[in-house]
Amino acid sequence: MLVQPANHAMVSSLSCFLLIFMLLFTNYIHACIQTQRISLLSFAFTLSSPSLNWTSSSCCYWEGITCNRDGWVTHLQLPSKGLKLKVGIFPSSSLANLTHLTHLNLSHNSLSCSLDQTEFFLSLNYLEILDLSYNLLFGVLPSSLPSGHIRMVDLSSNHLHGAVSSSFFQEAWNLTSFSVSDNTFSGPMPSSICHPSSSSLRHLDFSFNNFNGSISSGLGKCSKLQVFRAGYNYLSGSLPEDIFNSTILEEISLPRNSLYGAVSDRISNLTNLTTLDLSYNQLSGMLPLHLGKLSKLKHILLDFNSLEGSLPLSLMNCTNLVELRMGTNNLGGNISRLNFSKLSQLSKLDLRKNNFFGILPRSIYSCKFLKAIRVSFNNLEVQIQPEILSLKSLSFLSLGWNKGLTNVTRAMKILMGCKRLLMLSLASSFLGEEMPNDVEMADFNGFQNLRLLDLSSCNLSGIIPSWLSKLKKLQGLVLNHNRITGSIPSWLGTLPRLQTLMLDFNQLSGEFPNELCTLPMLVSGQTAAQVGHPNFDLPIYYSPRADAKPLQYNYIFYPFIYLGHNCLSGNIPIEIGQLLLLQLLDLSANNFSGNIPDQISNLKYMESLDLSMNHLSGRIPASFTGLNFLSSFNVSNNNLQGPIPSSTQLQSFNASAFEGNLKLCGAPLPNKCQTTTGADAPDMSTSDADTREHQIPWFYVSIALGFITGFWGVCGPLVLMRKWRYAYYHFLDHVQDRFHVMIAKCMASMRRKFV
Ligand SMILES: *[C@@H]1O[C@H](CO)[C@@H](O)[C@H](O)[C@H]1NC(C)=O
Ligand SMILES: *[C@@H]1O[C@H](CO)[C@@H](O)[C@H](O)[C@H]1NC(C)=O
Ligand SMILES: *[C@@H]1O[C@H](CO)[C@@H](O)[C@H](O)[C@H]1NC(C)=O
Ligand SMILES: *[C@@H]1O[C@H](CO)[C@@H](O)[C@H](O)[C@H]1NC(C)=O
Ligand SMILES: *[C@@H]1O[C@H](CO)[C@@H](O)[C@H](O)[C@H]1NC(C)=O
Ligand SMILES: *[C@@H]1O[C@H](CO)[C@@H](O)[C@H](O)[C@H]1NC(C)=O
Ligand SMILES: *[C@@H]1O[C@H](CO)[C@@H](O)[C@H](O)[C@H]1NC(C)=O
Repeated sequence: MLVQPANHAMVSSLSCFLLIFMLLFTNYIHACIQTQRISLLSFAFTLSSPSLNWTSSSCCYWEGITCNRDGWVTHLQLPSKGLKLKVGIFPSSSLANLTHLTHLNLSHNSLSCSLDQTEFFLSLNYLEILDLSYNLLFGVLPSSLPSGHIRMVDLSSNHLHGAVSSSFFQEAWNLTSFSVSDNTFSGPMPSSICHPSSSSLRHLDFSFNNFNGSISSGLGKCSKLQVFRAGYNYLSGSLPEDIFNSTILEEISLPRNSLYGAVSDRISNLTNLTTLDLSYNQLSGMLPLHLGKLSKLKHILLDFNSLEGSLPLSLMNCTNLVELRMGTNNLGGNISRLNFSKLSQLSKLDLRKNNFFGILPRSIYSCKFLKAIRVSFNNLEVQIQPEILSLKSLSFLSLGWNKGLTNVTRAMKILMGCKRLLMLSLASSFLGEEMPNDVEMADFNGFQNLRLLDLSSCNLSGIIPSWLSKLKKLQGLVLNHNRITGSIPSWLGTLPRLQTLMLDFNQLSGEFPNELCTLPMLVSGQTAAQVGHPNFDLPIYYSPRADAKPLQYNYIFYPFIYLGHNCLSGNIPIEIGQLLLLQLLDLSANNFSGNIPDQISNLKYMESLDLSMNHLSGRIPASFTGLNFLSSFNVSNNNLQGPIPSSTQLQSFNASAFEGNLKLCGAPLPNKCQTTTGADAPDMSTSDADTREHQIPWFYVSIALGFITGFWGVCGPLVLMRKWRYAYYHFLDHVQDRFHVMIAKCMASMRRKFV
């Protein structure tokens, strides 16, 4: 039948009918099935906060919910909603009824419960995406993954533990991405993750766990694997040979394990590789000769291994190289053989602590994007050439502990043109020269961004020149182990960002300048917080002892003042009590006299105080019992007298910290104090009535705090081991106070040697 154009009413009623039908139909698509609604509501009921706005009639319109056309819930996606559970069990029975669920994303919440609810896992037969990362899940994994359709599993950053067994992957034919990073899984890594016939796995992340044993050889079956990460575990053994069959691999990241053996030459099969991170292992042997065949390589991180031999020349063919880090190995050879001119993308070069010799080739200046160069601790002949100014992005330069670097004035004058420089370390260079003086540096303007200047161990003579006072952003000035004379200039106290001052082992004389007691960064926590820490392009290492493994610090700025082993004299100014944030004060081996100022006990964060080998007299202030963070203390070899104040802290130090003071008595020294006058508590006579009143409570408080500090000192590292490792190595900038204190304590007790 043809519709007559005149038959208007019929057409319009037809379209009206269609419209109503469509509306009904659409409504029908999204009408949610009653059992699904009930399941979702009972899931919502297990949450304590915040309440979900799940009130409207059709559950398919609720936030985070998607249904299919039959009204089954397929997506439950509530990431970053601050979800918490009322009780510590996974709402498995409610979720188990959502049998058509394909996407479950509850990442970045605070779900604290055990995952070991097989009921839930087994019933979600259509699940494709499972993202429960960044929650507080604990317990062990269920026996297998929920569905054969699963494609993506992210359980990273939880508190899961136990093994990850091969059976877990049994049915996971279509798995493309699997991450369990940052948990406490242990045991060996699963050996058969991939099905030889139909593996689709591309992304595998086991990093930041406690996996041990060797890396299983099953990975070769993962023919589609692109990213393999298992760093920060306890893996040992050598790299499995069959990994070199996965030619599609783009990233191998296995840092901070105990892998040993040589890197096989077969690695040159992995022509798609862009990132190779095997740093902090025990790899040995020569580098693969044909490493340079990996023309897509961008990041090579092999630092802290025992690799030997020279750098393969082929490496200079890796034109995409951005980062080349080979520090702390036994590599060697004549560096002038290397031609850097093809490495036009190179941004970071770290060859620290190897046995390279020869002249640093000029071709390095053709790497226009270079931000960081560190070749310290080699046998290189380095000279600073004006060409260095062509490296416009240079912000990190560490050339010290080599040989041949001369003419410090010339070097400084050239380098002041490097406008972006944040960190300059030329330690143990320019031996025996004179500090560039103000006349020579009359035209000085530069280093306006410099945060750290290290000219330590250079045996430089002369005074601390006033051109340094123009470095307004300087946070660390490291001039220890020189022959610097004259007094400590008062302008040092006005440097707005100065935080770490190392002037020990010089020939400085005069008094401790009062101005130094107004250093803004040590006086005000607000200033310190505002300034923060600069982001260096390479981590800074710090050697506790010559034979110890260096620790890594992303920054090194701590409120530390080192003035030990000089010829300073006079009193320690009472104004020192203004440096409220100071954590380390070393005035040892000088000629300071007079009393130890009571005001030092204002410095509540003080962790290390060395006043030994001076001519200090009087008593150790009783208020020192309030220095609860003190972990290193030395007043030996002075003229101190009277009893050592009683506190758990002071008595815990070795007697050698108090020796060489003839009239000092009481524990930990062997000589007892005369008890007849002991009751007078003469050391308290200086405190007024007010402080005396507080003496007893403070005493108990300090015992309690001492206990807490002691307890955490021992157990903290154990309890927080994993998180600590994590924070410690990677996110030091975000470390909380606790870590900060722990690390600072470590540092305080160390000898200092940079980069
Ligand atoms: C809850 O959802 C309804 C409709 O979906 C909306 O009108 C209302 O503003 C929402 N309330 C809150 C507190 O978000
Ligand atoms: C889960 O949601 C978050 C936040 O929207 C998103 O970043 C993440 O990629 C999602 N997970 C998956 C596996 O899609
Ligand atoms: C796996 O993926 C393929 C292609 O996407 C698909 O055809 C197949 O049905 C999937 N298998 C399972 C069990 O989901
Ligand atoms: C490298 O990756 C590309 C794109 O993923 C792929 O097509 C190619 O086959 C890979 N090369 C090798 C040798 O596997
Ligand atoms: C570097 O590449 C060039 C050109 O592709 C080639 O001729 C040369 O042999 C390569 N050098 C090394 C050491 O592999
Ligand atoms: C250092 O270099 C300057 C040129 O910048 C030169 O005038 C001076 O003589 C050099 N000093 C020494 C000791 O070589
Ligand atoms: C204290 O300093 C002296 C040098 O005056 C040193 O011999 C002693 O070992 C130091 N003691 C402690 C506990 O640091």
